[in-house]
Amino acid sequence: MQQGKSSATGVNADALAAVARLRTWLDGARRCLVLTGAGMSAESGIAPFRGGDQALWTRFDPARLATPEAFAADPDLVWAWYLWRMAGVRAATPHAGHRALADLAARQPGLALVTQNVDDLHERAGSTGVVHLHGELFALRCAACAAPAPPPTLPATGVAPALRQPPPRCHRCGGAVRPGVVWFGEALPEAAWQAAESAARACDLALVVGTSGLVHPAAALPAIARRHGARVVEINPAPTALSAQADLCWRATAAQALPLLTGASAELGG
Ligand code: OAD
Repeated sequence: MQQGKSSATGVNADALAAVARLRTWLDGARRCLVLTGAGMSAESGIAPFRGGDQALWTRFDPARLATPEAFAADPDLVWAWYLWRMAGVRAATPHAGHRALADLAARQPGLALVTQNVDDLHERAGSTGVVHLHGELFALRCAACAAPAPPPTLPATGVAPALRQPPPRCHRCGGAVRPGVVWFGEALPEAAWQAAESAARACDLALVVGTSGLVHPAAALPAIARRHGARVVEINPAPTALSAQADLCWRATAAQALPLLTGASAELGG
């Protein structure tokens, strides 16, 4: 199973050879797991969490915005921040990499697409059955009784986010409505984790795209796949905590690399 580790970067013979190898692996794979993270959405204009001035956890304090305690202490602050994020996602559109993954799934019915992203760009690109490990921004629910809530009215994009805005109230119990995301300190949705873990156990190729591999348990999925005999391929412009586990590290962005795998693009970008 083990292949020599290699790194594909830019327009050169090594990169072309690596793309060819990866295409062969994909063609030969019976079951493929694709794990995506925030870098998958970066080229759609949605900031990742880590790395650089614009990253969310560089600009904002997760302890004040992304925990159940933060919401209980200051729901108006947390709700306003999530409204701003929802407006950003609504204004964004999927890129060629999202579309390539939808194409790949259409060709490979055994493909499992597991994402840590709370946006809906995979779905808007045509992917179905996406496993959302960290929930979904727009799946609003009551923080008290968990009743689903209707979609919010979003502020116009380009407008500075309101510092505080009261969350809507639950139609059933009057509790505060919260975004459908997993906050720090909360468990992952059980069904999503079960689906992701069994896909990792069953796959023969795991494609890991745009994640720093720092947040568990999602970050354990490539290792689970590897333990069960799968090849692991990382697509990320920068090295990550997962790079050492990968059989191939392709140093390219999601929008550059993924269309090449499906033949949707013939150009090899660096
Ligand atoms: P991070 O923000 O931690 O990492 C983003 C990764 O994407 C980095 O490794 C970047 O090098 C890479 N990247 C940046 N631009 C890219 C591009 N155009 N194409 C491909 N890769 C690119 O995001 P995640 O690993 O997804 O959790 O973060 C994991 C979790 O931490 C998130 O789901 C969120 C956060 O706290 C919750 O909200 C529960």
